[in-house]
Amino acid sequence: MWTEVAKLDEIAPGGLKYVRAGDDEEITLCNYDNAVYAVGRRCGHMNGPLDQGALDGWVLTCAFHNVQFDIRNGKALSYAIEHDMGDEPLPEPVQRWFSLEHRMQWRIRIHDLKTWPVKIEDGAVFVDV
Ligand code: FES
Repeated sequence: MWTEVAKLDEIAPGGLKYVRAGDDEEITLCNYDNAVYAVGRRCGHMNGPLDQGALDGWVLTCAFHNVQFDIRNGKALSYAIEHDMGDEPLPEPVQRWFSLEHRMQWRIRIHDLKTWPVKIEDGAVFVDV
């Protein structure tokens, strides 16, 4: 069922927008290369909100642990990538936390994102949910 979820001018080129549609589907709209793509809002790693991530071409990067997804098909492209903390040594408890977190990250399976067909009519964005 095609559902209007946004106006095209609400999503800047290269931008992301969170919308809900259908049976409470949480969707991130991605505007790239004069097209809009609809992927699940929840990251396939640990459910981070992907509308808070960064879009670079067809690659959507989650803000939480930097897992990357292809917005054309929802496929996961990477594992979690550690944040760069620079050269400043971190306090010992923080170092231990990051070490533990790093070991846990590798045990978490990363799921591909759900995707939906999108069409644009008269400046409105429709998603087939
Ligand atoms: S929750 Fe998205 S990368 Fe971990």
